[in-house]
Amino acid sequence: MKILIAEKIAAESVAYLREQGFDVDEKLGLAQSQIEEEIAPYDGLIVRSVTQVNRSLVEKAKNLKVVGRAGNGIDNIDVDVCTEKGVVAVNTPEANIMAAGELAVGLAFASFRNICIANEAARRDDFRRGQMIGNELDGKTAGIIGMGRIGSIVARKLKGIGMKVVVYDPYIPQERFDKLSVKRCSSLDDLLVQADLITLHTPKTKETYNIIGAAELAKCKPGVRIVNAARGGLVNEDALYDALVSGHVAAAGIDVFDKEPSYDKKPGEQKYENKLLSLSNCVVTPHLGASSHEANTNVGTAVTELVASVLKGELVAAINMPDIDGDLAAMRPYVNLAEKLGAIYYQAESSPVRSITITYSGELAKTETELLTLSVLKGFLSTITNERISFVNVKQRVADMGVDVVESKTTQLEKYTSLITVEFKADEKSLSVSGTVFGQESEILVDFFGYHMDFELSDHVLALQNDDVPGIIGRVGTILGLNKINIATMHWSRKKDKMRAQSFLSIDSPVEEDVIEKLRSIEGVLRVSVLDF
Ligand code: 3PG
Repeated sequence: MKILIAEKIAAESVAYLREQGFDVDEKLGLAQSQIEEEIAPYDGLIVRSVTQVNRSLVEKAKNLKVVGRAGNGIDNIDVDVCTEKGVVAVNTPEANIMAAGELAVGLAFASFRNICIANEAARRDDFRRGQMIGNELDGKTAGIIGMGRIGSIVARKLKGIGMKVVVYDPYIPQERFDKLSVKRCSSLDDLLVQADLITLHTPKTKETYNIIGAAELAKCKPGVRIVNAARGGLVNEDALYDALVSGHVAAAGIDVFDKEPSYDKKPGEQKYENKLLSLSNCVVTPHLGASSHEANTNVGTAVTELVASVLKGELVAAINMPDIDGDLAAMRPYVNLAEKLGAIYYQAESSPVRSITITYSGELAKTETELLTLSVLKGFLSTITNERISFVNVKQRVADMGVDVVESKTTQLEKYTSLITVEFKADEKSLSVSGTVFGQESEILVDFFGYHMDFELSDHVLALQNDDVPGIIGRVGTILGLNKINIATMHWSRKKDKMRAQSFLSIDSPVEEDVIEKLRSIEGVLRVSVLDF
């Protein structure tokens, strides 16, 4: 499978993907249009914050199964489009937070103590320190907007250097404020009027875009310092420029821009312009928040492991997957079983399904079953569409078909520890299949359209319905043998009242249609279904 790495990640992480057998192209610094032109054959895409994984790109990415954001912010990923197209989106929210938090604190120091101005001046033979006098952070008030993972790190560090920390974040529970011993601001204005330093740590959303504009800056204390190492656009750049020129904002530390440059082009290759670059009291860094060797290693490791797992069909905690409590590895056998149960109906029947009821019984009923429901639906659709179906878009696709899905649970169960029953309701009839897991990984079909059994499901199964008369199994075995199809296991079940039997054969290879026809022509065989999983 092919993976495109469009932005720089740690070399050892690229090597890891190759060791895993993936065909990896690392093409850094491509223009957005070039990525869109080249994306079609790739199964996986790894980006940082510059590449826009938008509708235009995703629609051209005909093979794409996973997009890995090597980092935290996902404002460059159109998660809804990924979901619609069945592309799993993953990011690495924990891997670079320390680097980001430290850079914000560094920019705060630089903007209070004129470190960068002094550095530049010294190189021009200007050592007039009397013109480079700054302010101390100790004893001043830091106003933090956003107290997620990074905001919390910054709060701890700024408290550690003696700042009074106040925070505005309407979404974080009071306990977090209490734990960090920081004061909660009742409103943004409450923070603006008291802060000597304002540092932003929110994602870029409709609500936070330009959260600091001209009106907000006007409310700030004269001489305030502004740090933005979160997302370009949180601070309105025109308003900040004016306030820096007038001196109302004494200095700023800016790591991110509303319109970002390419971070892979050499000097002269891009004509990037931003008027903040002309101001010496604005310390500027090229989105360096996550650029520590430690973060690079953490992010690269995390994102490549996630992308590789998704491409190997493993379950991962993705941005566009439902939250799954508990142990994903432990769920795996039931996920596989659920997908197989879902895949049975349209391989054996043709009446259109109007609704699907999935019942979880026994121990399973006590667990979070959303993932199992998605697995049933994935199996159900997999047999009737060539569209890209994954956990992330299957629910919507099933709803688009007008099929209702009902989930029910009961802890009452006699023979098994856990059981999944899937009932497919068509106009005229209702058919159900049930299965359980024995040991760690044996997926057992225990009910097939009213026939009871304990049949271990495998990749290729033949399901035969026949009159309950002697000789049929022998003839079936002969036809398969003559066609060099090896039978692994067989199982019989019957409904005595109807004088019918149901046989299941686990076979080692797929069966050609002409062999199926021969089986169908055996006298007494009523129906043959090929169940490929
Ligand atoms: C992030 O959201 O993880 C940081 O802003 C880092 O972005 P980057 O991956 O482009 O360095």
